[in-house]
Amino acid sequence: MSPTDDLFAESLPAAPKPIADGAWLLRGFVLSEAEQLINAIQQVASQAPFRHQTTPGGHVMSAAMSSCGDLGWVTDRQGYRYSSTDPLTDRPWPAMPALLRQIAMEAAAAGGYEHFEPDACLINRYTTGARMGLHQDKDEDDMAAPIVSVSLGASIRFLFGGTARTDKAAGWKLEHGDVVVWGGASRLFFHGVAPLGKRAEHPTTGPMRYNLTFRKVR
Ligand code: SIN
Ligand code: FE2
Repeated sequence: MSPTDDLFAESLPAAPKPIADGAWLLRGFVLSEAEQLINAIQQVASQAPFRHQTTPGGHVMSAAMSSCGDLGWVTDRQGYRYSSTDPLTDRPWPAMPALLRQIAMEAAAAGGYEHFEPDACLINRYTTGARMGLHQDKDEDDMAAPIVSVSLGASIRFLFGGTARTDKAAGWKLEHGDVVVWGGASRLFFHGVAPLGKRAEHPTTGPMRYNLTFRKVR
């Protein structure tokens, strides 16, 4: 390998890694914008604070959540749904920052999903022990659009299964700057994350992990 090959190796993004039919892991895809994304998350959270929502079954979720964009994902004893207002403040959700929309579109395109126009961005914040059990993203009206999921901060183990809850789920370590895109045949695949480890740590976020989930709901 010549020194120029080396230079190219560093400037080229990693090739998308297929993890299921229609699903791609884009390693380091948002690494160079990561600090800006975390600043944007903090801006959103200053208007729509992180909160622990309750499932219809009465469980308090371990991940704290906020949202931006036209619609936010909410849950309470009445059910899972999208809302144009934040139930905490009764105000519309903060607008989706342009950088977030841009990144979501670029990541979707890198996974082969052109013209993705997200109208919802759910922001999950995990601290030690917080997890997300296997579930399907199925509260959206538009199943043709993919899901774009951005990881920032401490790493976590992402689980990606199949169309049945009992399908064996493969585990993928998601690190700061990684993006997962899924749609098409895997749009309704079960997925989740294992509990954030005790020693999980990142120079920028400390013992925390953020996840941005972009969706086209309507
Ligand atoms: C989710 O599927 O809602 C979150 C997944 C993640 O945090 O990576
Ligand atoms: Fe999900």
